[in-house]
Amino acid sequence: MNNQSRLFSALTSQVGRKVLTGITGVLLVLYLIAHISGNLSLLGNDPTAFNKYGAFLHGFGKLFYLVEIGLGVTILLHAYIGITIWMRKRAARKQGYAVHGSKGAPSKQSISSRTMIITGTVMLVFITVHVLQFRFGPGEAEGYVQTLSDGTKIHDLRRITVETFSHIGWVVFYVGAVLLLGFHLRHGIWSMLQSLGAMKPRASGTIYALAFILAIILAAAFIFLPIWIHFQGGAA
Ligand code: HEM
Repeated sequence: MNNQSRLFSALTSQVGRKVLTGITGVLLVLYLIAHISGNLSLLGNDPTAFNKYGAFLHGFGKLFYLVEIGLGVTILLHAYIGITIWMRKRAARKQGYAVHGSKGAPSKQSISSRTMIITGTVMLVFITVHVLQFRFGPGEAEGYVQTLSDGTKIHDLRRITVETFSHIGWVVFYVGAVLLLGFHLRHGIWSMLQSLGAMKPRASGTIYALAFILAIILAAAFIFLPIWIHFQGGAA
């Protein structure tokens, strides 16, 4: 077996798949931290802050599109491997081999870990709807433009956000989806640290707690925004 096919079989093995879900998971959590940090600029007193932030990112041109493509591929890869891991486990359970609980490391079975396939699938649907609505929503040609004090015209992403969350139905949709995201992250962050071998058995409890706290902070921030915008209408 040559080096290339050895690498391929390592990556497609059950352990390789778990490591790949871990690596793609780390990238997605980093994206979520960056995304919520940018979104929080909707809360300040400056009504141009959010759009300036968007314009700054789009200003990277080709590099921005490259990162976007990388993000899309990471999401699809993460989902694909997650689904294949779940299908293999299900097939093994049908044959009567699998039991609830993990071998070696302490078992962290919870409602979050048992519903990863459901919360993950809902996330895929949510992200598709969200990206169509926000990233590929009304553009400058449709009049979604903000003119800055120096006359520069930038895409009015803030207007898309405020208009979307003025409808209670969208607020409920976002809050519901992000609640499930919280459950997905709670198990996902713990599992990814374990797969990547970052966790010494003694630190397991602490890391489990940290994963829990990070999941709660991220979910709470993403839940807070639509509710706040619904009732405040965004920064004045
Ligand atoms: C309060 C909630 C949220 C707001 C206000 C928000 C806002 C936005 C906006 C304005 C964009 C378009 C950016 C652009 O055109 O450059 C965007 C893109 C995106 N958002 Fe969100 N978002 C929220 C929650 C989420 C959540 C919970 C996720 C993931 C689970 C997510 C994932 C994405 C992705 C993957 C993109 C596409 C990125 C790109 O192609 O540049 N967002 N979001």
